[in-house]
This record gives sequence, structure tokens and C-alpha cells, in this order.
Amino acid sequence: MMRTTFDIIVKTMMSGPGGIDVVRVERGITDYLKPTGWIFALSILNAPDWVPYPGRSRARAATGYLRSAITGMIAQRRRGGEAREDLVALLLAAADPVTGRVMTDEEIADNLLTFITAGHETTALGLAWTFLLLAHHPEHEVKVLSEIDAVTADGPVRPEHISELTYTRQVFSEAMTLYPPAPIITRTATSAFPLSGFMVPKGAVIVVPIHAVHHHAAIWEQPERFNPGRFAPEQAKGRHRYAYMPFGAGPRICIGSAFAQMEALAILAVMLKAARLRTKAGSMPAPIMKVTLRPRADAEMLVEPRS
Ligand code: HEM
Repeated sequence: MMRTTFDIIVKTMMSGPGGIDVVRVERGITDYLKPTGWIFALSILNAPDWVPYPGRSRARAATGYLRSAITGMIAQRRRGGEAREDLVALLLAAADPVTGRVMTDEEIADNLLTFITAGHETTALGLAWTFLLLAHHPEHEVKVLSEIDAVTADGPVRPEHISELTYTRQVFSEAMTLYPPAPIITRTATSAFPLSGFMVPKGAVIVVPIHAVHHHAAIWEQPERFNPGRFAPEQAKGRHRYAYMPFGAGPRICIGSAFAQMEALAILAVMLKAARLRTKAGSMPAPIMKVTLRPRADAEMLVEPRS
């Protein structure tokens, strides 16, 4: 899933890999993410940059390669001047509506790096948890398969099918309730402010525990049960806005949420139409938080073609 969503984001952002060594970038991202448990813990503790952590030099080398590969690609695109319909073209053409200022190469590289890292691993994990949950809950898998068959008939999955895959969408939403790919987000208070009778001091790091909220018994009925019915329109109606926030909330809500959901439904439909995924394990793998919520051990699945 990581490879698939990576290919999709790279194609959407810059019309394909261009001069970038995709395998090396992918390895770089994995190296970058490996010590992120530490990076995240240190940032919560407000630790200064020089505090060492395991894997720090590898992570630095990986981000260095990513940045230089992307900066080289931007320079090439400026020189080439060819018209392409992708995110790089939009960023190159973007100008501040008031001042007319355009972005520097470094700003464009920052944006692209954010899109690459924020835009593929999360979706890949949402999909991985969905495949695992379906393998453990055949009664829902049957419903998903029959919806995909009914919507796509004998042909391939097409863009107009995506909005019709309503039960499949509920399944993906429910997978992100139990296993939110981004289980925690943080904010730093830029000034002191009152919150529920407490005074939050300037500089305090505030943790928004998305995973805990999604598993809260005061908010959800049988929170540990895999129940895609929670997302049927009549059941979702009236739910508190912040009861469910896999994509965050507020002004910095995930900019790619619509993209991610469309992408995930398309991948689920294409994969499940072609293959049946089974797991050898008797229970769901335990999750572990490493910025994102990953299966603790490799979650191996058996793939059988569907006749
Ligand atoms: C299931 C998949 C995804 C999940 C669960 C997810 C989750 C999130 C969350 C929780 C945030 C907010 C972080 C915060 O408030 O601190 C966020 C931000 C962001 N996401 Fe996603 N995301 C997903 C897919 C994507 C995709 C496909 C893209 C790009 C196409 C993307 C691009 C971004 C960007 C650029 C931000 C930063 C937005 C900002 O700060 O204004 N995400 N995402």
C-alpha cells in the first residue's frame, strides 16, 4: 500500500518521478519515519534540536537526499518551461493575490515534501487497517464485495463509481475510527488562554488525542466493535463535530482529505474486485504509534485471485 500511494502522490504532484530515484526516496522516507517516535516525543518535551536520538544521522541523510532531489527537479522544471497539469505547475504559477509575490524554490520544495510525507503513508495505513479488518470480519467483506460488483458490473472501476460505493466508504471511515492513521496531533499555544477553567500558558504543547477520543465509551457505543453502520447517514446525524477527526479539525484540517478518500475507495474497489485478502493471524495486529499508527509487526496477508 505504501508503494501504491507513493506512486499516486508522485504522479499527481509532479507527473511521475521525473529525475527522482523513487526507490531511494521511498527508502529515505522509511528511514525518516523510523526514529520519528523519538522526534515526536522530543518535540512534545520541547527538547532542543541538539538532543541526540537513535537513527538521527540516517534520518538527516534521508531528508537531505529528498530535499536535494526535489530542489533539482524544481530547477529543471523552471528551465524546461513545458506545461504540465500537476501540483508543481500550480505551485510555480501561484502568486500572492495582493503582493504578486511568487514562491521561492525552497518554499516550493517545502510544500512538496509536506505533500509527499503527509500524503501517502497515512492513506496507506488507512488501507492496510481496512484490509485487515475486512479479513477478520467476513460478514462486512461480503457486503463490500457485493456493492463493488453491483456498482462496477463486469467492467473496470471508473471515476464515476466512487461516489456510489457508499458502504465501502463507511467501512473505510470506521477503519479510521478504530485505527486513526494520525492518532495524535499537537498544537503549541502562541499566547496564554483559558480552557475549561484552566489557564493554558504561552508555549504549552497541547496534545489532541484523536485515538483516545475515537475509543471513548462516553462518545461511542461499543467503541471497540468494528461497526461500519456507525457511518450510515441516520446514525452519523447529530454526532459531535469533534467525536470523529481522522483528518484533524479547524483551519489546519487535512488539505488532502477528499483526495485520500477518493484514492482509498478506488484502491479498495480495484483490489477487492481482483483479489481476496486473508490473514494467517487469528487476531488483529497490535497497533503502535510512530507519529502514525502502524501495525506493530509486519501484517502479512495471503492474496488469492477472485474468480
Ligand atoms: C487517510 C489519509 C489521511 C489522513 C488520516 C490524514 C490526516 C491528517 C491530519 C490529522 C492532519 C492535520 C494535522 C494537524 O492538524 O496537526 C493532516 C494534515 C495535512 N494533510 Fe493529511 N491525511 C491523509 C491524507 C492526505 C493526503 C492524500 C494528502 C495530500 C494529497 C495530505 C496532505 C496533508 C497536508 C498538506 C496537511 C497539512 C495541512 C496544513 O497544515 O494546513 N493528507 N492530515
